[in-house]
Amino acid sequence: MSAGLELINRLRDRKATIGIIGLGYVGLPLMLRYAEAGYTVLGFDIDSTKAEALERGESYFEHIPSSRVASAQVRATTDFSRAGEPDALIICVPTPLNRYREPDLSFVTGTVEALLPALRPGQVVSLESTTYPGTTEEELLPRIEQQGLKVGEEIFLVYSPEREDPGNAHFETRTIPKVVGGHTPACLEVGQALYGTAIDKVVPVSSTRAAEMTKLLENIHRAVNIGLVNEMKIVADRMGIDIFEVIDAAATKPFGFTPYYPGPGLGGHCIPIDPFYLTWKAREYGLSTRFIELAGELNSGMPAYVVDKVSWALNEQEKSLKGSRVLVLGIAYKKNVDDMRESPSAEILELLAKGGVIIGYSDPYVPKFPKMRKYSFSLESEDITPDTLSAYDAVVVATDHDAFDWELIKQHAKLIIDTRGKYRGNEDHVVRA
Ligand SMILES: NC(=O)c1ccc[n+]([C@@H]2O[C@H](COP(=O)([O-])OP(=O)(O)OC[C@H]3O[C@@H](n4cnc5c(N)ncnc54)[C@H](O)[C@@H]3O)[C@@H](O)[C@H]2O)c1
Repeated sequence: MSAGLELINRLRDRKATIGIIGLGYVGLPLMLRYAEAGYTVLGFDIDSTKAEALERGESYFEHIPSSRVASAQVRATTDFSRAGEPDALIICVPTPLNRYREPDLSFVTGTVEALLPALRPGQVVSLESTTYPGTTEEELLPRIEQQGLKVGEEIFLVYSPEREDPGNAHFETRTIPKVVGGHTPACLEVGQALYGTAIDKVVPVSSTRAAEMTKLLENIHRAVNIGLVNEMKIVADRMGIDIFEVIDAAATKPFGFTPYYPGPGLGGHCIPIDPFYLTWKAREYGLSTRFIELAGELNSGMPAYVVDKVSWALNEQEKSLKGSRVLVLGIAYKKNVDDMRESPSAEILELLAKGGVIIGYSDPYVPKFPKMRKYSFSLESEDITPDTLSAYDAVVVATDHDAFDWELIKQHAKLIIDTRGKYRGNEDHVVRA
């Protein structure tokens, strides 16, 4: 029997061990899904606190309960010499931008280098990290081949973009269709077997490059449409029109329109970053990606737009930014999660502080302002009470967590700068931003 067929049988019979490398927002749910589907699972991370927590049966994410980790009984290690144990190695490590806004693949290449000595025939390697088209062929393939392993015959290589949406109650790992591309037809067959038993729907594409580009199209589509609606927001505001009313009305069209909502700027690990992976790669082909650049410019200008609105609204009350007290509501980048990565709230706080504002924040998911690469504030989350609210000159609605008491905020805040369309009446003390 060929190595591919043998591996497919092991996967289908759930005799295979699944290795997940990088146990973050993407890797941990995937690991739990494979455990729940009946596989033996072994996690790898360079962060020993994560591996130790999982070994104790504990979660380290707000949206994943420890009880789920405990009942999955997964194992995790920092010892990459054990990478020969699993039959499948699924890589979910970060793919950030460096300070020149170019792809930083060092986590991916570092992981592959760490796995190489233990690779053996009969394994499948799947990259899930978001990246530019060509990464699997250009960065993974030659390294694996250098080990003397024949890809497509002895070992199998696929790319399958991750589509996790932490905190989304409507979808989970199992129910989000999974796109997969193989380096060879045999690789694709193994890839389909790898995901087919754990995920309800697998969508095969013709190559790893097509699968890599699929993920980028999805995220660029979002970034561009959010940029568009942020521009529409500014125009509507100047014309005295409520953009949220317009979007709701347009969304009643049963075809050809998808609603996107404006906000204080882009956040999270994906949408502000991934499009620039394509921009970088397109340069190699002499192409520029104008939609991506334009959306980036519009979206990254939003925190300054919001602070400008705060300044004008205070001015109306004969107050200056300098010396005013402003409370930012919600510092996670989106509602109902604790993820602060690239959160526009951090930039809003920074701009306010630079303007001499006495800043504070409230976020039920982030009790203490975390250490971030670009920002550092020694602040703790304030409880929302009538006294707290009235002690501030203005509050900025940056992230619309369901846990906030919107009525209480409306009643007791002196001035509200609303970036999320939470207040749709014509309240005198609410300014849209
Ligand atoms: N978070 C999301 O919702 C989301 C959605 C879509 C795509 N993605 C993509 O998935 C990938 C992973 O993102 P994430 O959000 O899970 O990141 P994360 O930062 O939450 O987790 C990454 C994990 O990898 C570990 N790690 C770093 N270098 C390592 C190495 N050399 N070996 C082993 N482990 C290592 C880190 O310690 C961390 O635990 C990225 O490419 C991202 O763009 C994420």
